[in-house]
Amino acid sequence: MKTLLVYYSRTDVTKKIAKMIQEKINCDIEEITDDDKYSGKLGFLKGGMNASMGRTSDINIISKNPTDYDLIIIGTPVWASNIATPIYTYLMKYNKDFKNVASFCTCMGNGYEKTLKNISEITGKEQISTMFFTAEDIKNPEEKINIFINEIK
Ligand SMILES: Cc1cc2nc3c(=O)[nH]c(=O)nc-3n(C[C@H](O)[C@H](O)[C@H](O)COP(=O)(O)O)c2cc1C
Repeated sequence: MKTLLVYYSRTDVTKKIAKMIQEKINCDIEEITDDDKYSGKLGFLKGGMNASMGRTSDINIISKNPTDYDLIIIGTPVWASNIATPIYTYLMKYNKDFKNVASFCTCMGNGYEKTLKNISEITGKEQISTMFFTAEDIKNPEEKINIFINEIK
């Protein structure tokens, strides 16, 4: 199955999981960037506001065409119990191009269920697998990642 992992990471937590998955399954990877729109304290506030209001914002041009893949894995941090705005923007733009979807999110400890459910709703697809990481889980993510990978195979 040709797989693309698409993620956004403001402080590298989601990136760490994305890279671990990539190493294990050797998939293509696309980091969504936006010229640090959400960096710093002001960025934190703007991110929380945009995510809770379901706003999109500009993201940089993508390098991989999602239509070329059998499976898209989405990785997002949880923002205000929701999908982080850059990934929400990506999903709104490209979800019609997805064949199959799996996703994961990282968070401090809450909002992951709603976030993963929203990804299913936006894509209109039952996801092949989902997983989440709280600040506690992130210390030892290996087991969850292995289960996820078994499910998407
Ligand atoms: C704008 C904003 C809103 C957040 N809202 C939540 C939240 O609702 N629940 C939660 O558990 N963590 C929340 N967090 C914490 C992040 O989800 C968490 O630190 C995540 O692992 C960061 O991933 P990253 O380093 O890939 O950006 C929020 C962080 C930001 C920047």
